[in-house]
Amino acid sequence: MAVHNEAKLGEIAKTVLMPGDPMRAKYIAETFLEDYKLVNNVRGMLAFTGKYKGKEITVMASGMGMPSIGIYCYELYKFYGVENIIRIGSCGGHVDYLKLLDVVLVSGSYTEGNFARNMTEKECHFIEASEYLNEIIENTAKEINQDYTKGNMACTECFDPYLDDPMSFTNRIPKEYNAMGSEMESFALFYTAKHLGKNAACLLTVSDSLCFKEELTSEQRQLSMNNMIKLALESAIRI
Ligand code: HPA
Repeated sequence: MAVHNEAKLGEIAKTVLMPGDPMRAKYIAETFLEDYKLVNNVRGMLAFTGKYKGKEITVMASGMGMPSIGIYCYELYKFYGVENIIRIGSCGGHVDYLKLLDVVLVSGSYTEGNFARNMTEKECHFIEASEYLNEIIENTAKEINQDYTKGNMACTECFDPYLDDPMSFTNRIPKEYNAMGSEMESFALFYTAKHLGKNAACLLTVSDSLCFKEELTSEQRQLSMNNMIKLALESAIRI
């Protein structure tokens, strides 16, 4: 059974929203869910199950990076019967058409890393999100008038601002992928979902950029996060 999750069977919904930060999971439950209950607290990786507009949804944190989300999403899919995971996180932009606070829907994820080989012995460095979930998210975005940019992301193992030479990294990403920016979890989530025959998608808010020097206020960050969270919740009830 799940080594890193103490929820009982039946306490986790079929659809899970997955922010990186446990405090964001708590904020989402407190702000958007009704009748919510804490179902996991192992390692502080908070999970809450509650209702959004009458539909049962779980919101559970993933922690940061591929190894962390890889563990939690594997356990949700494999041991709890979860069918759909929508990651809701932040990303750094690599292209000037992606502005700070924009909402991104990830089409596919490129990694230089070896998560796929480690898990399945197969060489794989690019994986697409679930077309099924992305179509629901795009239709929902249109319905609720939420702008978004759809495209590929680089899934990294080191935060862009801490790289010795960020340009050398971005130049190394194969041009065919047109990576719009970096985040650190989507490849492991998409790969695990495909491997287990499940669905995964990823929505992101642009929190920093290699193209712009501005800094965001925490109020700006929260407001744009709320737009992304609402899009994820409204999509989840349409699955
Ligand atoms: N790089 C990787 N992950 C991120 C970034 C970044 O610049 N910003 C937010 N998540």
